[in-house]
Amino acid sequence: MEGTSVQMLLALSSLLCCTTNQIGVTVSPSRSQFFEGESVILNCEDDSSAGWTLRRNTSRRTRTQCGPEWGSGDGLSCNISYMYPADSGVYWCESRGGGASSMVVNISVSGGSVILQSPVLPVMEGHDLTLSCQSKTPPSNPSAAFYKDGSLIRTEPTGHMTLQHVSRSDEGLYKCHIRDHGESPSSWISVSGEELHCHLTMDFLHAVT
Ligand SMILES: *[C@@H]1O[C@H](CO)[C@@H](O)[C@H](O)[C@H]1NC(C)=O
Ligand SMILES: *[C@@H]1O[C@H](CO)[C@@H](O)[C@H](O)[C@H]1NC(C)=O
Ligand SMILES: *[C@@H]1O[C@H](CO)[C@@H](O)[C@H](O)[C@H]1NC(C)=O
Repeated sequence: MEGTSVQMLLALSSLLCCTTNQIGVTVSPSRSQFFEGESVILNCEDDSSAGWTLRRNTSRRTRTQCGPEWGSGDGLSCNISYMYPADSGVYWCESRGGGASSMVVNISVSGGSVILQSPVLPVMEGHDLTLSCQSKTPPSNPSAAFYKDGSLIRTEPTGHMTLQHVSRSDEGLYKCHIRDHGESPSSWISVSGEELHCHLTMDFLHAVT
């Protein structure tokens, strides 16, 4: 696309739909569940020079900041090199003055031997979603049972489950179970509509300018 038309599209898109303009948080590896001992890097997707800090709420303490209290980082990104179950919680970025904050991500750290590989960001309506049930040591039988809101929805011999064309009704609390290995923590999976499409379109347009 030619520079000026991209600029115009960008201006138009921000006018039309991205008025809230929340910054994002990226999690790598990009999933919401981890085994104890794994490491994770969280990043504030900032496109200004404003200072951001990563904060979190856990069951023990609230609004603690990356660096002095947990993890290590330079403000925009934070490295937790060895995660414990007590690191489970919600994470977000906040501007230094505390005036603005980003979207929030949920992270669970399992002290057990099974996790559900579920997306950390909302899934877009109409897209397919694959969930994997993973054990710490290879299972003799990878067959996994998947639960939504406490009810068994499917047993998959491969340990992977695909939901096709997700809609709002797929939102819920998911977990999985592998025989002889145990159960994963539960993760909330949310499905988003137009607003996020818009956000991603903006990201794309920013990327090509
Ligand atoms: C974190 O905890 C504080 C204090 O309880 C609460 O006001 C705030 O809404 C929480 N933030 C998130 C993102 O859950
Ligand atoms: C995260 O921290 C650990 C331990 O300090 C280090 O080994 C690792 O390289 C760091 N990762 C990144 C991407 O900085
Ligand atoms: C985090 O998880 C809780 C339930 O475990 C859910 O109510 C909440 O909506 C989730 N937040 C996000 C941002 O996914």
